[in-house]
Parts: sequence; structure tokens; C-alpha cells
Amino acid sequence: MMDNLLILVKGLPLLALGVAAGATYPPIPLDLTTPVQHRIAINSPTSVRIAWNTYQQLGQPCVQYGTSQSSLSQQSCSTSSITYPTSRTWANVVTINGLTPATTYYYKIVSTNSTLETFTSPRSPGDKTPFNISIVIDLGIYGKDGYTIDQDETKRDLIPHIDPSLNHTTIGRLRDNIDKYDFIVHPGDIGYADDWILKAHNWFDGKDGYQAITETFFNQLAPISARKPYMTSPGNHEASCQEVPLTSALCPSGQKNFTDFINRFGRVLPTAFMSTSPDQQAKVNANKARLLANPPFWYSFEYGMAHIVMIDTETDFEDAPDQPGGSAGLNGGPFGSYLRQQLDFLEADLASVDRSVTPWVIVAGHRPWYTTGTSDCQPCKKAFEPLFYKYGVDLGVFGHVHNSQRFAPVVNDTADPNGMQNPKAPMYIVAGGAGNVEGLSKVGKNMTTNRFAYDEAFSYATVNFLSEQRLQVDFINSETGAIFGSVRVV
Ligand SMILES: *[C@@H]1O[C@H](CO)[C@@H](O)[C@H](O)[C@H]1NC(C)=O
Ligand SMILES: *[C@@H]1O[C@H](CO)[C@@H](O)[C@H](O)[C@H]1NC(C)=O
Ligand SMILES: *[C@@H]1O[C@H](CO)[C@@H](O)[C@H](O)[C@H]1NC(C)=O
Ligand SMILES: *[C@@H]1O[C@H](CO)[C@@H](O)[C@H](O)[C@H]1NC(C)=O
Ligand SMILES: *[C@@H]1O[C@H](CO)[C@@H](O)[C@H](O)[C@H]1NC(C)=O
Ligand SMILES: *[C@@H]1O[C@H](CO)[C@@H](O)[C@H](O)[C@H]1NC(C)=O
Repeated sequence: MMDNLLILVKGLPLLALGVAAGATYPPIPLDLTTPVQHRIAINSPTSVRIAWNTYQQLGQPCVQYGTSQSSLSQQSCSTSSITYPTSRTWANVVTINGLTPATTYYYKIVSTNSTLETFTSPRSPGDKTPFNISIVIDLGIYGKDGYTIDQDETKRDLIPHIDPSLNHTTIGRLRDNIDKYDFIVHPGDIGYADDWILKAHNWFDGKDGYQAITETFFNQLAPISARKPYMTSPGNHEASCQEVPLTSALCPSGQKNFTDFINRFGRVLPTAFMSTSPDQQAKVNANKARLLANPPFWYSFEYGMAHIVMIDTETDFEDAPDQPGGSAGLNGGPFGSYLRQQLDFLEADLASVDRSVTPWVIVAGHRPWYTTGTSDCQPCKKAFEPLFYKYGVDLGVFGHVHNSQRFAPVVNDTADPNGMQNPKAPMYIVAGGAGNVEGLSKVGKNMTTNRFAYDEAFSYATVNFLSEQRLQVDFINSETGAIFGSVRVV
């Protein structure tokens, strides 16, 4: 969130003091086939995608896998190894099909220098076994270019001072809790590469600063995203080389219009699943949703008792903020072949859900329309809220505002009279406090439908699918692991 104009103006005089320049890239491995920046994603009930980057193009990216560590008896390959201007790396992806559901697999990316990794295959739609997911939004990197350095107070409403030598507390907590959740949902604002400008050492080399932060962030995330499916959608920080409105024409080719995001995730994330419902109309709608889906921007997937839709609050609806002419001035998209493609996708996708198969429906996007403070996205509300209500979405998951919040089930700014007992309206959360270079946002102006808000430490959310009737949302203090702000929807 927020714009950088103030920083630019306030920061410039420092240039005269002769600040040392230079982006901080991670070292290039001697063996250029070494996989880095691993990320896996759910692709269908019986397949996953394994993606990673290398410092050279691969003729044939391959992954060996199996259910035993000592016998990786199967192999899957592709010819997909792509890059873009300003990137030092190539993005590789391989699809692994025919998996037995909810089973531990081991895999090794084929390279002269790779390690054994593991993942658990997806739970079949309709499997009612309880499971948990982690929700992180507005995450960002740690270290020299990250949130840990005490600087740029103008950009921060409030930030605890954290020793730069420490790891990102949310990334650390995701690692420590790795056996307690099945996958990660991250709708936007990922590495904050476009905030290179906040660190003086990048000022003379923004192009490399952007790329260095991108490489470093995905290296930092890799120990987690190599093992847990990482399901993402775009935020404003994916749009352009920096957030200063109306200047994206100055960005180098490769650093505008969501280029890294598309390159990295476009062939990794799914479209929509085929319906497993016996209902004919559900099948027709699911097929329609598959055709209208446009990963990595909007898509859906199913996992056990959950149907999860990822939406794009940045582009592709009326007055979308990041689109040419939009309020954010970021000049990205549109990505649909017509203006309503995303909304038609969402409608068909939600209409395809058979609640006897997946009783819980979650939609996740970046910009919230229910939030304390002032960063509510009214064009998003106008576009998406009626569909959420019409199709009985249970939980709306958003970020953008850098703190943790929960709302009562609500529609048109009015709390559902049923409260948490079988509400008709969706409940909403904001889980934007994961910790990035911009720091935390104050809770600010309250709303009557708010039920909880917290801005004192970095935090993220977990959603525990307890049964077909009960869902639990917790916020986690990233540093201590303490659970707070818990609530159950029945
Ligand atoms: C092999 O990979 C590791 C990281 O997994 C890296 O630290 C090391 O430099 C690589 N070795 C070579 C020879 O590239
Ligand atoms: C930082 O994380 C690495 C693993 O990613 C771990 O080995 C190291 O101990 C952590 N350092 C701190 C200070 O927590
Ligand atoms: C879900 O998370 C809770 C709280 O961290 C934990 O106690 C429980 O074991 C987890 N359940 C599963 C199925 O992982
Ligand atoms: C961004 O990319 C999309 C898809 O390639 C294209 O249709 C759109 O016109 C581009 N937007 C801008 C502002 O260049
Ligand atoms: C919400 O407001 C819209 C626009 O005024 C209206 O069409 C719709 O019926 C309202 N929905 C509910 C549930 O009140
Ligand atoms: C905002 O107001 C509501 C309703 O009065 C209250 O329940 C909630 O706790 C308040 N939130 C904050 C963060 O003070």
C-alpha cells in the first residue's frame, strides 16, 4: 500500500552525502544447473507443479520422484525454461501427474547439484479430513534490503525495531510450523522488489536492486515453498519497478506490467478443477470457469473440504486500481480478453461449487473493501461483493493493509444478524501484517462491523478446517508463535 512520493522527496538530499551504491545480489552458483527459488503448487486433485529457477536456460527441466526416499523411480520433464529482460535467471516448471492423494512424495530436481526435497500430494475434493492452511500477505524479504533495518520512518506508521541479523519472523514461523499446515495462500505483495528505492545503496542501480530483491526473496522462501504448495495472486507491488504513480513508462523493459510475476507463476498455478459433483449444471459451470480462468491472476482449486478462489484486485474490472488510468497509476493489465472475463470466471466458478463435496468456499485477493483505516477498495467492493453474497462465500481473505483484522459476517456494510451461526454473508479477514520493508499500519479509523484488529507485532493467519460445520481462523504472532484473535464459524 501507500505511495513513495514522499520518500523520494525526503530521501534525495542524502545523495549529496555520497551514499555508497550497489545492489546486493545473491552469489551465482558455480554449477549453473543448481536449482534455486523452488516453489510448488497444487495443479489438480492428482497433480502438482514443481518450479524453480536456474542461472542458465535448461533444455529439458526434469524432476525425479517417488514415495520412497531411496527410490525416486519416476521422472517427469518439460521444455519450459523462460526468462525476461533484466532477469539473471530462467524459470523452469515440470508437472507431476498421477499422484495418489494425501501421500508423502520425495523429489529431486535433475541437476548436478540438487538436494532431495519432499511434498504431500493434495487431498481429494470431498475428503472431509481436518486440515490447516497458512495465510500470509504483504510478506517481503528480510536482511539488508528488507524490513529488519531501522530506516525510512516516513514510510512506516509504526514498526518494532528488529535486529538486522535476525531472520524474517513470519518466514521463520512458517518454517518452524511447517508440519502444522498443508499449504500457503499468498494473495499479493510478495517480495517488495519495487521498494528498492527505500534503501540508499540501490539508488544508482534500481534495475539491479529490483532484480536482487526478487532473487533474494525467493531464495529465502524456498525452504518453505519447496515443500508446501505456495498459491499466490497479484498485489500492487507486483505491478511495476516502483510505486510512484504514472512513472512506470520509465521502468526498464521486464520490470513493468507484472512481468516477473507472470514469468514466475504463469505456468505454475492451476486454472480451475473439473467438477466431481454428480450435478450436470455444476460440471457445465466448472468447465466454463476453466476456460475463463487466467492464472496467475485468477484461478481456483479444491482441497479436501475447501473450494478456494484466487482473485486479482489490481486489474480486470471497472475502475481497477492498477490498470491504465486507474487510481494507483501503475499501468498494468488488463489481462482478460474482455473487461468482465474475471467476473464471469468468478461467477461460473462459484456457481460450480457443490457444497456436499466442498462445504467451505474461500475467496482470497489482495485489496480489502472491509478494513479499518482508509485503504478500502471501493471499486473492488462494487465488482466482487455481490458475487460473494449471491454464492454464499464463507470467508474473504485480504491484505494490503499491514496489520491483522477480522470482520463480522457482513454485506453492504451491515453485519449479518445471524452472526457466526450459519451467516448468509461472508466473514472477512485482513492478514497483511506478515512484515515487509514498509512496516506495520496503524489500525486507524474503526468500522462498526470490525470485530478485531491488531497492529503491534508482525503476524499472519491460519485457517483450520475442523469439520464440515466448523472453521477456525487464528492469528499468529510471528515472533512468539502465540495464537490470538481466534474465532470459529459454524
Ligand atoms: C550447490 O548448491 C548449493 C546450494 O544448494 C550451493 O550453495 C553451492 O554453491 C552449489 N555448488 C556449486 C558448485 O555450484
Ligand atoms: C535463520 O534461518 C536459517 C535457515 O533458513 C537458520 O539456519 C538460522 O539459524 C536462522 N537464524 C536466526 C538468527 O534465527
Ligand atoms: C492445526 O493447527 C493447530 C494449531 O496450530 C494444531 O494444533 C493442529 O495439530 C493442526 N492440525 C493439523 C491437521 O495439522
Ligand atoms: C500488459 O500485458 C497484457 C498482456 O500481455 C497486455 O494485454 C496489456 O496491454 C499490457 N498493459 C500495458 C499497460 O502495457
Ligand atoms: C446490497 O446493495 C446492493 C446495491 O444497493 C443491492 O442491490 C443489494 O440487494 C444489497 N444486498 C443486500 C443483501 O442487502
Ligand atoms: C471497532 O468497533 C466494533 C464495534 O463497536 C468493536 O466491536 C471492535 O472491537 C472495534 N475494533 C477496534 C479495533 O477497536
